[in-house]
Amino acid sequence: MLAQLFNADICRKCGDIFTNAIDVSGLTKSFGGFTAVNNVNMTVRKGEYMGLLGPNGAGKSTMLKVITGMLSPTSGSAFVNGVDCKDHRKAMETVGCVIETPECYPNFTPTEILSYVGKLRGITGPGLNARIREVLDEVRMWEWRDRPIGKFSKGMKQRITLAQALMPDPDILIFDEPTSGLDPRGLVEVREILKGLKRSDRSLLVSTHMLNEVSEVCDSVTIIRRGQVVLSDNVKDLLKRKAGNVTIDVTVRNSITQGFMDDLKNFVGISDAQRTDEHSFAATFSGNDDREGIVELVKQHRLGLFSLNQKGSDLETSYLSLTGEEDKDDIR
Ligand SMILES: Nc1ncnc2c1ncn2[C@@H]1O[C@H](COP(=O)(O)OP(=O)(O)OP(=O)(O)O)[C@@H](O)[C@H]1O
Ligand SMILES: [Mg+2]
Repeated sequence: MLAQLFNADICRKCGDIFTNAIDVSGLTKSFGGFTAVNNVNMTVRKGEYMGLLGPNGAGKSTMLKVITGMLSPTSGSAFVNGVDCKDHRKAMETVGCVIETPECYPNFTPTEILSYVGKLRGITGPGLNARIREVLDEVRMWEWRDRPIGKFSKGMKQRITLAQALMPDPDILIFDEPTSGLDPRGLVEVREILKGLKRSDRSLLVSTHMLNEVSEVCDSVTIIRRGQVVLSDNVKDLLKRKAGNVTIDVTVRNSITQGFMDDLKNFVGISDAQRTDEHSFAATFSGNDDREGIVELVKQHRLGLFSLNQKGSDLETSYLSLTGEEDKDDIR
């Protein structure tokens, strides 16, 4: 009761009351007659990395805007570190956020921008320079500290945007599609930075369209569609639970023989095996995902392995079925 009163949880082991990083309860946001976020409940625990996944227009940015106090909720509540987001200034004290795509002043250098942001957040004196060095190291931009931002690539600009959010050393990070619009290299770099920011006392809420981003970076996932939560789960458990139904597509250099297909169908753990063309087959595991065993079988039959790919991850399967056919185009 006490815990509910203060938007907190009770530790099952020690009985201590602790606040969650983010607590969203019955949150609804309407624009005129249109409801963009509809009665959403979501908790991000301290130290947890949560992915907010959903197709275009699902309500991700709207939710993050309410949590960060940029929009007020129509009904329901959002608490950050136990502070109601309506008390925007206090709630944001412990938060570093980047919502949608903010522009950087092109003539400024990273040092100048971060110095400005640092002063705004109350960091002064020798501590300011030390902090600038730390955050530029964290986003791997120290060597670019004195170059004008206007000359930077999109990925580099994004890293400077993240650096600004990191200046006050926040224990809660909220990023809205931080890899949006980046080329594959920029995307990998930003993801690596997000992973590098992980600390036991730091939480992340990151919105994305990308399933692999969630499975790479996050511990848990909340999938939203048309403003409503359709799934909320731990990423590892989700993958483990469904690990029994992995399908692999295999292509070999030589023609697939009937003898091989017979052996494949009798292979332990295989629930389905189909030849898709002369050089390809699909195999579904209902038990252990023993793909090394399949590679060995291909070798024994001298078929010459060309490629082996897992059909859509289980997270992907869940996502597709939960967000519906019409949203497939939104998935990158
Ligand atoms: N200020 C606004 N006024 C009216 N409608 C809005 C406003 N902001 C958002 N919406 C609508 O709310 C819905 C959710 O928008 P939102 O930007 O939150 O989606 P999103 O999940 O962030 O999408 P995307 O992946 O494209 O960024 C959309 O239908 C959008 O058109
Ligand atoms: Mg958005």
